[in-house]
Amino acid sequence: MKRIKINSEIKYSVKIGINHQGEIANLQSRSAKLMIIIPSNLTQLIKIKSSKNTFVIKVPNGEKQKDIQVLRKIWRALEVNEFARNDEILAIGGGATSDLAGFAAATWLRGIKWHVMPTTLAAMVDAAIGGKTAINSPGSKNLIGAFHSPSSVLIDLSFLQSLGKRDLSAGMAEVIKCGFIADKKILDLLEKDVLNFSEIICRTVKVKAKVINKDFKESKYREILNYGHTLGHAIEKDSKYKLRHGEAVSIGLVFAAELGAMKCGLSQSEVDRHRQLLSNFNLPITYAKNRLPSLLKIMKSDKKVKNDQIRFIGLSKTGKPVWLEAVNQQEIKRAYGRIC
Ligand SMILES: NC(=O)c1ccc[n+]([C@@H]2O[C@H](COP(=O)([O-])OP(=O)(O)OC[C@H]3O[C@@H](n4cnc5c(N)ncnc54)[C@H](O)[C@@H]3O)[C@@H](O)[C@H]2O)c1
Repeated sequence: MKRIKINSEIKYSVKIGINHQGEIANLQSRSAKLMIIIPSNLTQLIKIKSSKNTFVIKVPNGEKQKDIQVLRKIWRALEVNEFARNDEILAIGGGATSDLAGFAAATWLRGIKWHVMPTTLAAMVDAAIGGKTAINSPGSKNLIGAFHSPSSVLIDLSFLQSLGKRDLSAGMAEVIKCGFIADKKILDLLEKDVLNFSEIICRTVKVKAKVINKDFKESKYREILNYGHTLGHAIEKDSKYKLRHGEAVSIGLVFAAELGAMKCGLSQSEVDRHRQLLSNFNLPITYAKNRLPSLLKIMKSDKKVKNDQIRFIGLSKTGKPVWLEAVNQQEIKRAYGRIC
């Protein structure tokens, strides 16, 4: 078992290589009351032993759970079962579940402890770590949320075996992003014939941990984690969420690499490495030419726009992120022209 310590607004550990049954039993015996939040479709995969202090709340699968009505159901269950400040929540599932359960924990009694057992690659390397929690509003994703770190992140690698190919690939986009912004060794590991998931996940979590230890509330440094995300988020929305987050980010990464080549000297071979690695994991690397006007409109309305400027993270070389604060429309068009 590997352990990575996080020191943001609270101190906690990410444990990689745990046995989920043992850890669930451990939390059940340690907590006064424990509410387990899990999507219905995962209850076949993960058996939870009943105990008198455990309350299991089944939620819908995927994005449908990040909804105010589902949150109300959780708040009601917390109320009926008299959850107090020392009681805890455990989220078991992908990033949608950690976002929902974390937000429930953040809002109940102005914040109770929660733990997270991520079951998708995207959640293991990204969503479960860093304390961002959220639900969706009718027109947008993640606008209603809070920063509220979990008290532990418990990663059982065996969950990856049942994960669909598309979900595994989507998670890989975030792994590849972390390799490019901060740890070239991740990219080398991804190019091997046999993937060492334990090592790859461990290194990726370390990249995120280092960033959030420095800048938990995203005043500036944390923005490097948004590499590929400015265009990625816009593509996700433009596709009406038919593309997975990681798939949209994949296209955004190639675009950001092209911007880096144009504006801060990223070499062509490094841009090519983006395309090669992402395609190796069956991730999309192009988007329709005629969608640029719509993407520009969405990017301009993004919560991260400052002084009407669309901001991007670029790279001058692997491991060296650059803040691109002033990218003009012509430059965006030129870089976009290379990804369609
Ligand atoms: N808070 C953050 O910092 C952060 C970061 C990135 C993404 N997110 C959020 O995370 C969500 C995306 O995460 P995701 O890709 O994990 O999506 P998800 O939680 O919707 O899970 C994807 C699918 O995989 C299924 N699944 C989960 N574990 C499985 C397993 N072990 N075996 C088989 N199927 C399994 C789920 O039921 C679902 O159908 C989005 O809502 C996004 O906004 C949050």
